[in-house]
Amino acid sequence: MTKELFQPSAAITSKAHITAAQYDALYQRSISDPDGFWGDMADRITWFKKPTKIKNTSFNAPVSIKWYEDGVLNAAYNCIDRHLPARANQTALIWEGDNPNESKHITYAQLKDEVSKLANALKARGVKKGDRVTIYMPMVPEATYAMLACARIGAVHSVVFGGFSPDSLKDRILDCDSNIVITADEGLRGGKKVPLKKNTDEALKSCPDVSTVIVLKRTGGDVAWNAKRDVWWHDIVDTQSTDCPCEEMNAEDPLFILYTSGSTGKPKGVLHTTGGYMVYTSLTHEWVFDYQPGEVYWCTADVGWVTGHSYIVYGPLANGATSLIFEGVPNYPDFSRFWQVVDKHKVNIFYTAPTAIRALLREGDEWVKKTSRSTLRILGSVGEPINHEAWMWYNAVVGEGRCPIVDTWWQTETGGHMITPLPGAVATKPGSATKPFFGVAPEIVDGEGHIMNGPCEGNLCIADAWPGMMRTVFRDHARFEQTYFSTFKGKYFTGDGCRRDDDGYYWITGRVDDVINVSGHRFGTAEIESAINEHDCVAESAVVGFPHDLKGQGIYAYVILNTGREPSEEMKKEIVQVVRKIIGPIATPDVIQWVSGLPKTRSGKIMRRILRKVAAGEIDSLGDTSTLADPAVVDELLKNRQTPT
Ligand code: WT7
Repeated sequence: MTKELFQPSAAITSKAHITAAQYDALYQRSISDPDGFWGDMADRITWFKKPTKIKNTSFNAPVSIKWYEDGVLNAAYNCIDRHLPARANQTALIWEGDNPNESKHITYAQLKDEVSKLANALKARGVKKGDRVTIYMPMVPEATYAMLACARIGAVHSVVFGGFSPDSLKDRILDCDSNIVITADEGLRGGKKVPLKKNTDEALKSCPDVSTVIVLKRTGGDVAWNAKRDVWWHDIVDTQSTDCPCEEMNAEDPLFILYTSGSTGKPKGVLHTTGGYMVYTSLTHEWVFDYQPGEVYWCTADVGWVTGHSYIVYGPLANGATSLIFEGVPNYPDFSRFWQVVDKHKVNIFYTAPTAIRALLREGDEWVKKTSRSTLRILGSVGEPINHEAWMWYNAVVGEGRCPIVDTWWQTETGGHMITPLPGAVATKPGSATKPFFGVAPEIVDGEGHIMNGPCEGNLCIADAWPGMMRTVFRDHARFEQTYFSTFKGKYFTGDGCRRDDDGYYWITGRVDDVINVSGHRFGTAEIESAINEHDCVAESAVVGFPHDLKGQGIYAYVILNTGREPSEEMKKEIVQVVRKIIGPIATPDVIQWVSGLPKTRSGKIMRRILRKVAAGEIDSLGDTSTLADPAVVDELLKNRQTPT
């Protein structure tokens, strides 16, 4: 497979931002002269005060990351105001509702008005520069207004995905100490209502410091009301002025916090700052998607994830693009929905996740073929490794062989694309994220941290800083250093395994830590275990990922019940409910296997390798089990193995 090469067509290369002839020299420069390269790239952003210092970073303790440190700018100004002279009447956002009959266009001029009004309303409620604002919204334009309104006044947003439970919302509100929440009465996805206000009420029972909840009327459904705390969006926003000056922000002032799961502990607040993030997301959006002026660009992610932050909101809008936001799901009303939306809005660039591609692939080609898709030019993939079959189908059926696929590897922490093809410059190989983006220095190291050269497989690290990277874990810099820079000293460790082939192409092999990637969503095994253990009858549990046809990885849980408790289907349902309640429906375990013991070493450490093998059905290759405290545990594991359905 590693020899299968797909060259971009002349139609693509002839007008691409970056061509094959430019890539190598530009990449070399970006690595050998980061100050020169990133100094030049800073010009794509409008600064109130242009930075004179470019890079000031260290991956050795004390880890410190500063880019453009004396620059002054505002992210909302870059996403809105600076486009007004040329693009006031151009569509900034196309909103496609869950219901196929609902959509609207928002121009840059309208975006300025809506964002400014909300920004003024936030100020009127006492929100100041540096305050944290929690956003728990459906995929409506107002979610984008909320993010940009915060950016406009220098408040730091923390968007919580609408699929997360009240408990998860509560943890995130408390962790970042936010006293204002922006939400909606209900969300709408696939024809089903999501009780956002009800979830917020539930979460806020444990958040006494939240004094304001701004509620957008989306569905008009019934909601409980706390008159001291709750205000309708329209009541406080509609009367505000459409003028709101942009706060002057230092390049290193925080822009947002976004929570993400790791292999230990609670989700951490990944902190991104302003200058480097804006340069990096706008540059990658333009070059990786080869965005051309006037094109319609659609990223199907939710703004609750980093993909939505960087590639629905900040990157595209900084570039004056037309960015489509979609409220719905790929299979509603039917499996043609994505392609109908592509035709309806004449989408040129389409960016989605392998899990969605696999779900549509298995429904057959007809759903795709009955649409035109003639406007499509570039296809993107993100969130997990894309398997060969899904890549080939995406290329041949969706793109009809004419659209380069950009398989973009990156992370919440990296802020933007890291390893990815550039459509006009890098020939693709199905399943490979191909080559590093400018300024990104990947290193593959062995278990001891020795750098490996040439073709090899090992742990993926990044040797030096790039402008879009996270700066710290909110209020926990020690955890930042510990999580990312202590495993391999002086390097950023991604948590991913990776192979490099003879052509220098990178192939991400998946997480090597205790993180599971379910449909492109990250969960720590410890996080799910602690949720399961909340059930009164559970003594202990261990969770691993297993290969899942649709989701990439599924969740397999081994559960030990307290003495005297009887396993039953009912009990399984209860445990599933607990996880859904504590984390959210997206973390629902696919399989629960009752066990009386877990495979532990004599020092008490769970041998997850064995649990993973059993879950995957690789029962002939369990490896050495002689160091287990009780090798008999394995027989029971095998005997009662559940076949995932
Ligand atoms: C993890 C990051 C970045 C936005 C979406 C997920 C996996 C992501 C790819 C890809 C192989 C990928 C990695 C990474 N991942 N994109 N193109 N090929 N794996 O963000 O929740 O921070 O997860 O997703 O394992 O570490 P995230």
